[in-house]
Amino acid sequence: MELFQRPTGTQDVLPDDQAYWQWLVKIARGVAARYGYQPFDVPVYEYTELFSRGVGTGTDIVEKEMFSFVPRQDDERDRRQITLRPEFTAGFARAYLQNGMGSWPQPVKLFTIGPLFRYERPQAGRFRQHTQFNCEAIGESDPTVDFEVMAILWDYFTEAGLTGLTFQLNSIGSPEARRRYVREILVPYLRAREHELNEVDRRRLEQNPLRVLDSKEESAQAVIAEAPVITDYLDAESAEHFATLRRYLDLTGRAYVINPRLVRGLDYYSKTVFEIHAEGIGAQSALCGGGRYDGLMELLGGPPTPGVGFGSGIERAIAALRLQGITPPGLPQPPVFGVYFDQVSKDAMIVLLSELRRAGIGASMDYGSKSIKKQMRAGSQSGARFALILGGNELERGEVQVKDLHSETQSPVARDALIGWLRQRLTS
Ligand code: HAM
Repeated sequence: MELFQRPTGTQDVLPDDQAYWQWLVKIARGVAARYGYQPFDVPVYEYTELFSRGVGTGTDIVEKEMFSFVPRQDDERDRRQITLRPEFTAGFARAYLQNGMGSWPQPVKLFTIGPLFRYERPQAGRFRQHTQFNCEAIGESDPTVDFEVMAILWDYFTEAGLTGLTFQLNSIGSPEARRRYVREILVPYLRAREHELNEVDRRRLEQNPLRVLDSKEESAQAVIAEAPVITDYLDAESAEHFATLRRYLDLTGRAYVINPRLVRGLDYYSKTVFEIHAEGIGAQSALCGGGRYDGLMELLGGPPTPGVGFGSGIERAIAALRLQGITPPGLPQPPVFGVYFDQVSKDAMIVLLSELRRAGIGASMDYGSKSIKKQMRAGSQSGARFALILGGNELERGEVQVKDLHSETQSPVARDALIGWLRQRLTS
């Protein structure tokens, strides 16, 4: 029988890769906590309308990338279609409204790390299941919050040791100013050059003209390069908001480039939008994307409530770390390895290792009935610091032979004193 393969676009995360994951997750949690963001989780699936309404029907995500299904066709009472979450922001907004977070001290600052699902064409750095470190600050329009959200990313990537990243920033203005720019400036411009666009972009022009500016199609590049930029048509409030945000970034020495063509592919954005890119990790170079979404809550039936946040792909950050030759600290291995001679000493070793683990000291042993030499080799390969050797003589004397696998020295330690002896050496 042919062996099963994992589904296209998904990955197994092997123990060796886990070192990268756990390290990044630890940094992310640490930085989020330093900025006062609280851990938060939303369901892995939501009712489909949440995403079509929140993310927008004209977006790639909603148009062609959602994993949607009706769980029980046969159940009259619940035929609502659900969708595996393709992003976090809509779920956070739903949860903010549903849990009455509007009455909490504002802004409500939340973060999560978890899997998302998009039915995309798989390629380097683009998966059908990916993982985001996602932060949202809901309930405050002050650009200080935009600044803080961006600063979290700076600190996160800096702590991970990544260099040479480009922080791209733009403002796409209020929804009204954006609509006016699209209607009065962008659409007439794109119509005049429609003959240069391919079918994909012509469809975008009909459904969501701003998305043409985000197009990766070769034919669109000259059209995009010469297009009038949204930043020149900002409303006064957005322009001031943008200037203040830039001042905070400048004050704290955070380097960024303004990319007036950055519009982002999701409908809910207003004012601030940003992305961080890393060269060399494939066509998909965005390590993160985010921005402000002041109109989202209203789209979901809530009161006007500003919000800003980002999502950052863990898989892409790991690709960038590997590319830059940055290795994470290894995962901790049990520092103690038990070696035994026969069934009697094996029984005693099982009891001894159980005691050590209960006392908080990691311990492992080999299985079966292998030679001492093979067990010692397994101990060295396991990364343990000490081998504990138990034979008939040791049992008789109430001792354990302890071999330091670093210095190759060996000495007897009284069994009763072993936990204290190990603790002292493992913590120093
Ligand atoms: P997004 O740009 O769609 O934004 O995704 C954010 C990040 O997730 C990307 O920059 C990338 O690092 C990673 N990512 C997205 N799709 C994939 C994929 N198929 N494979 C691997 N990595 C991927 C959002 O999701 C917004 N909800 C971000 C946000 C939060 N805006 C405001 N708050």
